Amino acid sequence: MLAVSKHYRSNGVDVPALRDFSHRFRAGEFVALVGRSGCGKTTLLNLAGAMDFPSQGEVWIGDACTSRLDDAGLTRLRRTRIGFIFQFFQLLPTLSVVENVELPLLLAAAPDPRAQALRSLEWVEMADFAQRMPHQLSGGQMQRVAIARALVHRPQLLLADEPIGNLDTTTGNLVLELLRRAASEQGATVLMATHSPESTSITDTIIRLRDGAVEDITQPACTV
Ligand SMILES: Nc1ncnc2c1ncn2[C@@H]1O[C@H](COP(=O)(O)OP(=O)(O)OP(=O)(O)O)[C@@H](O)[C@H]1O
Ligand SMILES: [Mg+2]
Repeated sequence: MLAVSKHYRSNGVDVPALRDFSHRFRAGEFVALVGRSGCGKTTLLNLAGAMDFPSQGEVWIGDACTSRLDDAGLTRLRRTRIGFIFQFFQLLPTLSVVENVELPLLLAAAPDPRAQALRSLEWVEMADFAQRMPHQLSGGQMQRVAIARALVHRPQLLLADEPIGNLDTTTGNLVLELLRRAASEQGATVLMATHSPESTSITDTIIRLRDGAVEDITQPACTV
């Protein structure tokens, strides 16, 4: 649940990035954040993921209010309840595919990281690539590995910042399908910032931002 405003201070000037945004997201809901460059999509994802904090208001992830946690609590929250996916994949180049996926589990000292990482890779149909290095993969394959990594600890919140921005349409559709399934099958709340109008047809909710404010929220009845 977010009820927030956010402004940045830049060269002594206040830049409003998000104004009076208030929304309660459901488990299993796939949400598209749309709007022009600079409208506040990444700001909203960063607040939702406890990577940044509101200027006013609060962000609640389950029973945790992000601005009331200490550093250890924030780290635990990010490692256990949140997954991130980025436009440029951000796999670690010196680790193999399976090592990239198991890393969040190792950091969280979770049991059986290798087996869980392989299961997550199977889920995105990338298990055959487990021993490859990231540079030996296509963009779409890298993004599937990034999704496996983001989901390996079964987060309740999956945040994706323009996850298909760097992919062709067919590959992008595969990635969207995986995000859809993360919501429908795993019950994650998926928040996706996107510039692609077509990608919103598979989501439950479309939140349109304009200059940091909500312009409208639509919930297309027909979802796959
Ligand atoms: N660290 C920062 N310091 C100052 N201003 C910032 C900072 N980060 C973002 N902003 C400003 O906040 C506003 C919202 O930025 P944000 O990155 O959320 O937009 P966006 O919708 O993700 O855009 P894009 O589609 O280009 O990624 C913009 O006016 C931006 O310039
Ligand atoms: Mg952005």
